[in-house]
Amino acid sequence: MSACCEPQGYDLVFNDREARRAAARYRRSGLTTLPRRTVELYRDGTIQGETLLEIGGGVGDFEVEMLCAGVRRAVCVDMSPAYDAVARELLAETGLTTRAERRVGDFAAHPDLAGPADLVAMHSVVCCYPDARRLLSAAAARARRFLVVSFPRDAWWIRTAAPLLNVYPRLRGSDWRFFVHPAATIVRAVTDAGLVLVRTEHLRFDVHAVFARP
Ligand SMILES: C[S@@+](CC[C@H](N)C(=O)[O-])C[C@H]1O[C@@H](n2cnc3c(N)ncnc32)[C@H](O)[C@@H]1O
Repeated sequence: MSACCEPQGYDLVFNDREARRAAARYRRSGLTTLPRRTVELYRDGTIQGETLLEIGGGVGDFEVEMLCAGVRRAVCVDMSPAYDAVARELLAETGLTTRAERRVGDFAAHPDLAGPADLVAMHSVVCCYPDARRLLSAAAARARRFLVVSFPRDAWWIRTAAPLLNVYPRLRGSDWRFFVHPAATIVRAVTDAGLVLVRTEHLRFDVHAVFARP
């Protein structure tokens, strides 16, 4: 896919102000529910691995926590350059800079941005991308052992809210939209890539799913 066909202007929504707000919230109260769940599963041994690839990692708070929990090296690919500077500050603060790498780009369009990792994670990213299958296929292909994906529940009241959420990016001229992809589409994309669904947790707004490579 050429750059002209990739969604543009994600940094108009995921901008410096949002990045600083997300980092401040993390410093104040730690990880949000979905990434925190993944760290808990890593700490209790449900998911394992020495290397992590996070796609759409935002300010990199999850990477920081996973490196503290025992991951040896982490790579984060995010298509919003605005998050990068703030993520680097967080890594520096925690003394983890040498164990983490950041790359900027659309991972669905450019899967070569990162090599394989034991554990691949995507929290609240599929809902930001129009072509769920393309993004998930690329992510699954990089997962040596586990892929963790969290995404909004395909409930009528969440689908109803989506057009309202999309007013803001339209006004800002960003291609970013909030998508409620059917759970079946998400699971199928990953299982077609050779992984099996081993754990599903239904939260109030989201689904937290763990896939493993047999
Ligand atoms: C809603 S934020 C979630 C950030 C973080 N994962 C969290 O849970 O706080 C979605 C992030 O995914 C990134 N993103 C969306 N589609 C992407 C893609 N195809 N490749 C890389 N990053 C992507 C956006 O730039 C944004 O930073």
